[in-house]
Amino acid sequence: MKYVINGGNKLFGKLAVDSAKNAILPIIAASIMCDEECIIEDIPLYLDVIEMAAILEKLGKTIEFKDGNLVISGSISSTSVIMAETKTLRSSIFMMGSIISKYRKAIFTYPGGCDIGKRPIDIHLAGLKKLGIKFTFANDLIYCDASRVNGSVIELSYPSVGATENIMMASTLMEGEITVIKNCAREPEITELARFINLMGGKVYGAGYETIVVCGVKKLHGTSFRCMGDRIAAGTFLIAGAMCGGRIELDGINPNYLLPLIVFLRNSGCNIDLFSDKIILENFSRLKSVEKIETETYPGFPTDLQSPMLVMQTISKGTSIIHETVFEARFKVVAELIKMGAKINVSERYATVVGVTKLKPAKVSCPDLRGGAGLVLAGLVAKGTTEVDEIFHIERGYYNLDECLKSLGAEINKVE
Ligand code: UD1
Repeated sequence: MKYVINGGNKLFGKLAVDSAKNAILPIIAASIMCDEECIIEDIPLYLDVIEMAAILEKLGKTIEFKDGNLVISGSISSTSVIMAETKTLRSSIFMMGSIISKYRKAIFTYPGGCDIGKRPIDIHLAGLKKLGIKFTFANDLIYCDASRVNGSVIELSYPSVGATENIMMASTLMEGEITVIKNCAREPEITELARFINLMGGKVYGAGYETIVVCGVKKLHGTSFRCMGDRIAAGTFLIAGAMCGGRIELDGINPNYLLPLIVFLRNSGCNIDLFSDKIILENFSRLKSVEKIETETYPGFPTDLQSPMLVMQTISKGTSIIHETVFEARFKVVAELIKMGAKINVSERYATVVGVTKLKPAKVSCPDLRGGAGLVLAGLVAKGTTEVDEIFHIERGYYNLDECLKSLGAEINKVE
């Protein structure tokens, strides 16, 4: 499947932001810790979410997508997560924390590298080991033995999102034990996971700060959960509005989660109004380059918005230097953008972008999820017909991106 985009339209209108993919994935994993029914409301059908739910189903849970909600019930009957899907869906590693929390054992396929980098799990394993969990490795499999566990004070060597989430889950069902996680990730998705665990009866304190304390409980119960809006999708739409020009209103997004992007967009010349759960962006002039963009852990500028922001710099006036500090392979989209007339030079983790007055339409292919979204943005401003191929990457984390953009006035169609 590909998107065919006829670029050049300004964007006008309102859009409701979907629930956050990166919060939903660990929350689906966390539902393994509970045998009662969990309902995740208003769930967009991201491919990653469908795949994560399919893994749960193969393990024995009952899964139902009903009336826009995801209903998860029953218990898993296998603790061996060694299916082909786990190689393509890295987030399946979140199930390690939840399965060992409840079942005290698990077998996992060693997750390989992925589109954006090597993505090791050493920080996850180091933290879990401090909880008493023993690991043995054979034939590309990880055998986890949690028959004897204990609370602990764990200081992460880097505030990894996945490691923080895995350790939070692993320590949730350790009745009577207290676990302190220091230097943990502070992303809003972590706070959402903690909120979900606590709604099930868990005791996770301090999510969103540098230290999280988990007081282990015996059992969790079912719950209903509505997730926060996807800050990365919202950021992508804001960048689209800035690049195309026009006026867009995004509902269902807390602007506090996007402050570094909002500062950059304002400095680039956009007018932005902020409300408690809404952002309005307006732009009718050529954008100015952002001199330096450096990706950081939250609350810094998110690596997941680096590609869309890089694309914005290709048509902004001036020169921008982008430093990717989080994932080593996040400049793959550059080769495609050069086909569209962008002037970008990459050296290791730095990209220097010299803004041009316009991009030209081309046939391009998505290298990864966020890079793919970036190519759609490029297609929206390149006058003429751009084809963006391999859009399954985009559909992993954006739901109906074409329909959303169409509702704002873009000409974009999905074709075979
Ligand atoms: C999550 C997000 C992803 C986002 C990233 C950073 C989900 C499903 N994905 O990924 O979209 O880009 O946070 O905000 O929530 N690292 C190690 N060893 C480890 C763990 C991580 O070296 O054990 C490295 C990674 O290779 C990477 C960096 O730490 O370079 C950040 O990874 P991490 O924060 O763990 O990201 P994810 O949880 O994989």
